[in-house]
Amino acid sequence: MQELTDHFGKPIAAAYDEATAARSTPAVVDPVVDFLVGLTGGGRALELGVGTGRIALPLAERGVEVHGIELSEAMADRLRAKPGAERVAITIGDFATAQAGGSFSVAYLVFNTIMNLTTQAEQVACFRNVVSQLDPGGCFVIEVLVPELRRLPPGETTRVFAASEEHWGIDEFDVARQGQISHHFRKVGDGFELRSTPFRYVWPSELDLMAELAGMTLRERWAGWDREPFTSESRSHVSVWEKPAE
Ligand SMILES: C[S@@+](CC[C@H](N)C(=O)[O-])C[C@H]1O[C@@H](n2cnc3c(N)ncnc32)[C@H](O)[C@@H]1O
Repeated sequence: MQELTDHFGKPIAAAYDEATAARSTPAVVDPVVDFLVGLTGGGRALELGVGTGRIALPLAERGVEVHGIELSEAMADRLRAKPGAERVAITIGDFATAQAGGSFSVAYLVFNTIMNLTTQAEQVACFRNVVSQLDPGGCFVIEVLVPELRRLPPGETTRVFAASEEHWGIDEFDVARQGQISHHFRKVGDGFELRSTPFRYVWPSELDLMAELAGMTLRERWAGWDREPFTSESRSHVSVWEKPAE
């Protein structure tokens, strides 16, 4: 497996909470936390790519024992500096391979973070790594977008997803290997600064197959955390796979 690059170093970590403020309001976070609390059944929760604690901290506040795995020391440092951080244990490592210690009733991977693993092999390894850390009957939850290929005409490889004076966002697709590089041009002073992050987009059905390879079955799939129906028009999904209970 290839050496992983940390795309969330100090400058990104410093700006992360402000950049994601719209996803950190109670209106967005509470349904996520309610959903996860409902699955824990009093057990422990494991967040893969815990970041600065957007979900882990409010979940721990609800009395759930939360453990996070995180690649970026800078993101973990931001989490550790927040009130309540002592309730969230952190393991620095790659969530496709790192073990947090002990077993969990729920593991979760939100905000498209499965796509940070840029090969199919790494995404499959992640499912296998999760199942090895789940209690019997435990659940793995993923929140991820549905690949936006219907917006890409044949022969085109790029799509503009943000266009303003301050920020231009362009996705670059490599359909043959399900690669997607998100380019962000942000205004800094008189010029623009470019940040590009590689992803691997992944289909719901492909995730189901990865779960099956790891010995889990699909239990629920919704369009969002309030359990809205998942349809052909849904732009993202929240899926829950279950480890056998024996
Ligand atoms: C989009 S942020 C999401 C953070 C947090 N889960 C949230 O919802 O705000 C993705 C996080 O996953 C981490 N990450 C990406 N790939 C990782 C990997 N292979 N192993 C561990 N952490 C990883 C990044 O460093 C970053 O903190």
